[in-house]
Formats: sequence, structure tokens, C-alpha cells
Amino acid sequence: MRHLLDTTDLSLDEIDDIISLATDIISNPKKYAHVCDGKKLATLFFEPSTRTRLSFEAAMYELGGNVIGFSEASSTSASKGETVEDTVRIVSNYADIIAMRHPLEGAPRVAVTKTLVPIINAGDGGHAHPTQTLADLLTFYREKGRLDNLTIGLCGDLKFGRTVHSLIKAMCRYKNIKDVLEPSGTKYVQVESMDAVMPDLDVLYMTRIQRERFFSAEEYLKYENAFILDLDKLENAKSDLTIMHPLPRVNEIATNVDDDPRAKYFEQALNGKYVRMALIMTLLKWGGQLEY
Ligand code: NCD
Repeated sequence: MRHLLDTTDLSLDEIDDIISLATDIISNPKKYAHVCDGKKLATLFFEPSTRTRLSFEAAMYELGGNVIGFSEASSTSASKGETVEDTVRIVSNYADIIAMRHPLEGAPRVAVTKTLVPIINAGDGGHAHPTQTLADLLTFYREKGRLDNLTIGLCGDLKFGRTVHSLIKAMCRYKNIKDVLEPSGTKYVQVESMDAVMPDLDVLYMTRIQRERFFSAEEYLKYENAFILDLDKLENAKSDLTIMHPLPRVNEIATNVDDDPRAKYFEQALNGKYVRMALIMTLLKWGGQLEY
């Protein structure tokens, strides 16, 4: 049995296989419509979510499976003081696979010590969000045809943003030009404004400032409007730039950028459903729970 706590739990070959499976699902959805008949996914969301939870649920339904779960901790025994370990131990008797989001960093790592079924980290605090990274990688693949030799601009909340943390860990393992951090021996540059690097970028990955993770309102207000992408800033960008955002957006991308053909964030959210279908199938297969 395998779990997905962060992107590095998967080898590059395994990521390739998941992306290939997702692209086959996109081309032949009928072939996969009953692969998970009789299986149940539990979505345990102790923190708010729109895309991640609903795309997980849609993914399981489109594979023929069923879904149980909750979308807020206040409606569960967590509000009575139950630990994550106990909740997961119980739910793993009711479901074949669990997707879990929790405000505390490391909560899924605790959960795997007690579970009987595979656990997928659907976001833990400011730490990691590996299934968003899989959606991002599928988007790179579909938009750029490759995962390596990309110059990627990461803009917004790089401190608290778990989507960029997991994405950077993944991209460090590919050959990328400017986005990789020192331990991997690759070059990156840190800039104060987008203008200087905009012409070089193949991908611009915007993120929202993570208001709920700031320790004070004052600190948040310093950054609230610091990085906003609008059509003027895109003037010097490549014609085949891919603009991405894990969403939700607050104000960091002006809404008229949505009509620019380079804006791919809504496609990215759809890719999230396909890649989660591929991931659910893969983890169930590794757990010996599914054959396909
Ligand atoms: C992200 C998250 O929850 O970390 N949303 C998502 O899952 N697509 C990004 C965010 O909340 O800013």
C-alpha cells in the first residue's frame, strides 16, 4: 500500500505514468467509467475547499465509484476533541481510499500511521499540496508538451503557499532553467517585479497571498496588493506563455486577463479532475484493491 503525502513520494517514472493515464482518460472516458465500481472514496476536509474536494468527488464518480465524507471539521467528532489518528482509523474501515485536507502541517503523516487504506494529502497547512502539483504537471504537459526545460515564474505567496512548495519540489527534479533552488544545483533568480523576467518566461504561476496563514492582519496588508497581473504586464511576455493559478483568485489576476488565450487556469482546474482519476486508480492498484 502506498500513500501520497508529497510530490517526492512518486518517482519521475510514476509521475509520467499518472500523466499518461490521465491523458488516456481524457481521450477515452468511457473506457474508465466503471473501473471503480463498488469502491468508495472518503473526502475528509478539515479546511475549506472548492476545486480540490469537488474534483476528487467528480473523479471518483466518473470512475464509477462512490464518495462519503465531510467538508468542515465542525460537523465531525473533531469538534468534540477526536484526534486525526482516531478519525482516520475509523474512516479507513468505511472507505477504500481517503483524500484528506487539514490546517495542520504534517497531519496526513500522522494519519498514515493508523490507516488501513491509501491516504492522499489534499493540502496540509502551508506545507504541501501534491495533487495540485499533479494537476499543474498535466497542464504543463498539455500546454507545452514537456515537463523539462521550462522557465517558470512563481509569483505571489511563496512563503505560505503550499501549491508552490510542492510544485518546486517536483520541478527541481526536471531540467528547468531559472526556477530551481540551490540544493539541486540549478539556477534561480529572485526579483521584486514581474517586468524584468516576463519576456523569459514559458510559464507564469500566480498564487494568492494566503491571508489565513498570516500571524497578523498588519503583516497581511503589506502584501495584499503587492503582485497583480494585468494586461499591461503581459505586453512583453512570450506569445506562447502559459498563465496558471491553482485558484482561488482574490485580485492577483485582473479578470480581463481571463480572455487572453494564454490564460490556462480554468483548464488547469479541469486537469485536476482527470489527474485525480488517474491517481485514485494508481493508488488502488498499488494497494492490490483494483486491477485494470
Ligand atoms: C490552493 C490550496 O488550497 O492550497 N487551492 C487549491 O487547492 N487549488 C491554493 C490556495 O488556497 O491559494
